[in-house]
Amino acid sequence: MDDKGMLIRGRFAQRLAQVMEQINASIGFDRKMAMQDIAGSLAHAEMLSHQQIISADDFAAIRGGLEQIREEIREGRFTFSVALEDIHMNVESRLGELIGAQSGRLHTARSRNDQVATSFRLWVRDAHDRASALVLELIGALLDLAERNATTIMPGFTHLQSAQPVTFGHHLMAYVEMFGRDHARLCDSRARMNESPLGAAALAGTSFPIDRAFSATALGFDRPMHNSLDAVSDRDFAIEYLAAASLTMTHLSRFAEEIVLWMSPQFRFIQLSDAWTTGSSIMPQKRNPDAAELIRGKTGRVTGSLVGLLTVMKALPLTFSKDMQEDKEQTFDASETLELCLQAMIGMIGDLTPVPERMLAAAGAAHSTATDLADWLTRVIGMPFREAHHVTGRLVRLADERGCSLEQLPLAAMQEVDPRVNDDVYGVLGVENSVQSRRSLGGTSPERVRDEIARWRSKVQVQA
Ligand code: ARG
Repeated sequence: MDDKGMLIRGRFAQRLAQVMEQINASIGFDRKMAMQDIAGSLAHAEMLSHQQIISADDFAAIRGGLEQIREEIREGRFTFSVALEDIHMNVESRLGELIGAQSGRLHTARSRNDQVATSFRLWVRDAHDRASALVLELIGALLDLAERNATTIMPGFTHLQSAQPVTFGHHLMAYVEMFGRDHARLCDSRARMNESPLGAAALAGTSFPIDRAFSATALGFDRPMHNSLDAVSDRDFAIEYLAAASLTMTHLSRFAEEIVLWMSPQFRFIQLSDAWTTGSSIMPQKRNPDAAELIRGKTGRVTGSLVGLLTVMKALPLTFSKDMQEDKEQTFDASETLELCLQAMIGMIGDLTPVPERMLAAAGAAHSTATDLADWLTRVIGMPFREAHHVTGRLVRLADERGCSLEQLPLAAMQEVDPRVNDDVYGVLGVENSVQSRRSLGGTSPERVRDEIARWRSKVQVQA
């Protein structure tokens, strides 16, 4: 029997069945945490030495070995072994090859349970940081596009029916609000998760005189976790990350859906260049926004990961159960997907050009300023809003009967519906006027949109 895989099998005479090895091993995916595992081991060894639990000489040998392993992995020279189950045992076994028996002192006052909890936490913390940076970049791209389109008029929709004219800048700023909340959620979850499980050992703590604050600080954690059972069995941090990622993907997906709609020949509100569109193998005229469709499609993967991990955790008794090994693949996949989709969205936003004349024409269609007319009847003529709504409805019907827009109705025709209407009404019927007039806080007027862009720019500057 070769001794790979026998590192912790002192009491076993036989090696694992092949399928057992296959279901048990996580090295195929948890090798992604190699750097975090080594960082955790370095911090742990330094703490052991500082506390004189191991000698300075042992620490120096362990550190030298771990640093060499880090180089081997970075340079792709490390041989990962399935028989060694996971990244933790692969590194420990290699350390033994490099420095001999001294390597065995590294695992003093530690268990794989707090080791994996630490490595995975460090990995998820990095994932938070990468996602946060990309979300800020996305917000920056949206702000730039919104700034260029603070006065570009487009239809605002409810039920995907033209409702009232808005500015394209205002529409984009709605996504800035969404991604701003996503960023806040990531920061919030990162702050909560930044505690160290290291030193909880298997589940109950240890009899060695360790200093958990020392290793926590070395790893950039704010403090050690305060309950050893919780420390090894908590995966809230990954679930919170996946929840934040899922909601970010949901926002990306909604925007992606709008890109798909706006790119369709029926809308033609925007154009994407060749760099961001694909053709059809049979229909030469096609220009498809595949990246937007894929963002929409990939959203399910990330939400699936969230539901997957919640389901893994939902009936687990304290503390560690091997089920928890299933936390990693879906989290890795979700973060890879999220980051790719954020990058794709940043790229598309930088690339897309609006077609203002199409947007304007659509904004003016379907009596989109009817609310402005009703508001005018209330504000200027003094009708109760419900009556104004009714009068406007009759004017809309009249315009439909004549096949014209509201502003094309002659005054005499309007006065037949209600004699109080006067010439000033034409001032509120154009889309331009409609948009300019909506100056309430959070409204669509260009000046409000510019205020919001400025507010977000200073907010982003503080966070970046
Ligand atoms: N590979 C394992 C995981 O991913 C490491 C923890 C193993 N701990 C244990 N008691 N078997 O969770």
